[in-house]
Amino acid sequence: ETAGKVITCRAAIAWTSNAPLSIEEVEVDPPKAGEVRIKVISSGICGSDNHILDGTFKTPLPAILGHEGAGIVESIGEDVNSVKPGDKVLLIALPQCRKCDSCLHAKGNCCLKEDIFSPFGLMLDGTTRFTCKGRKVHNILGTSTFTEYTVMHEISVVKIDDDAPMENVCILACGFPTGYGAAVNAAQVTPGSTCVVFGLGGVGSAVVLGCKAAGASRIIGIDINERKFEKAKALGVTDCLNPQKFKKPIQQVIMEMTEFGADFTFEAIGTIDTMVAALESCNMSYGVCVIIGVAPAKSQLSFDPMKLLSGRTLKGSLIGEYKIRDDIPLLVDNYMKKKIDVDSMITHKLPFVKINKGFELLRSGKCIRCILLF
Ligand code: APR
Ligand code: ZN
Ligand code: ZN
Repeated sequence: ETAGKVITCRAAIAWTSNAPLSIEEVEVDPPKAGEVRIKVISSGICGSDNHILDGTFKTPLPAILGHEGAGIVESIGEDVNSVKPGDKVLLIALPQCRKCDSCLHAKGNCCLKEDIFSPFGLMLDGTTRFTCKGRKVHNILGTSTFTEYTVMHEISVVKIDDDAPMENVCILACGFPTGYGAAVNAAQVTPGSTCVVFGLGGVGSAVVLGCKAAGASRIIGIDINERKFEKAKALGVTDCLNPQKFKKPIQQVIMEMTEFGADFTFEAIGTIDTMVAALESCNMSYGVCVIIGVAPAKSQLSFDPMKLLSGRTLKGSLIGEYKIRDDIPLLVDNYMKKKIDVDSMITHKLPFVKINKGFELLRSGKCIRCILLF
């Protein structure tokens, strides 16, 4: 019986950026009111975790990273009603409090209870539940999955089916819904349309699956790493392009290939140049460009405003516009009914202690998604 007691377990600590994570013993405090302590079962390694480690996405360190997790509720604090010990859950970086302006709006999902763009790395009461070697350790976006036990706010914890396959379902906490929902919710890809996906990593692969599910007839995939092309084609990409192989800008190549530009374009890389290229690749009149990649801190996007005046739509989306506690359990059901193909995104599985090897795989471009098993 661990409820109410501090749990000592292993976690991967990011002490600084640009250094390997170190596996340490940490103390995990019991959950306070409105909080849930969770035994992590699996966690994906996402491009955003890597952006934190390489310093392009700034969050307070030392921290326990990881925001794409699946686990089992160990204990709950006071006033927690939506989950109980033993429940299977997903651990998600974006809450759904059901009370804030975004949550109350029919279309909004960017819950105001998490400071997602300038994370402070603490619980809502301004403290942390993690201690390592006597030092307080930050969380990441209220999540922290690179640890055997974590504490989260109830509003970021999504109860899923008791029979959900816990090894793979973690992908439904970030990468899959972020990409898939960008296509089916944010862009609302139409049957017979032409789509362009910039970046064929984990998120971009999920975009491809969403475009295909929505009936796109042509899906052009862009990546500088040609090792991504075989997998991308298996997922539904019809044409693969490496921008480094062309003398002219890739947007011009796409314009020529599609005659008038693509119906829908997606940026799943996180650089300003590729965001502009994605915008300029969609049809000037009715094209829709969706930004999903996380740009470097403090960067600015600039482009000729005439690009919009002609009718283009430029928008962004977070976790695929899903209201997480309402919608993600339904995605899990569809996954269990084999209506969505999450497994094809998973290329590697490693024991949690090999986490640095997982990051190497991501950086080398050898993997689409690598899952850590606890
Ligand atoms: N042009 C084309 N492709 C590029 C470029 C570029 N300039 N730079 C990188 N890529 C490719 C990489 O080769 C890789 O295949 O983009 C892909 C990025 O994929 P991952 O590293 O697997 O990252 P992912 O988890 O998919 O996240 C992508 O979405 O959620 C955000 O923060 C996340 O910004 C990141 C983006
Ligand atoms: Zn992520
Ligand atoms: Zn909210």
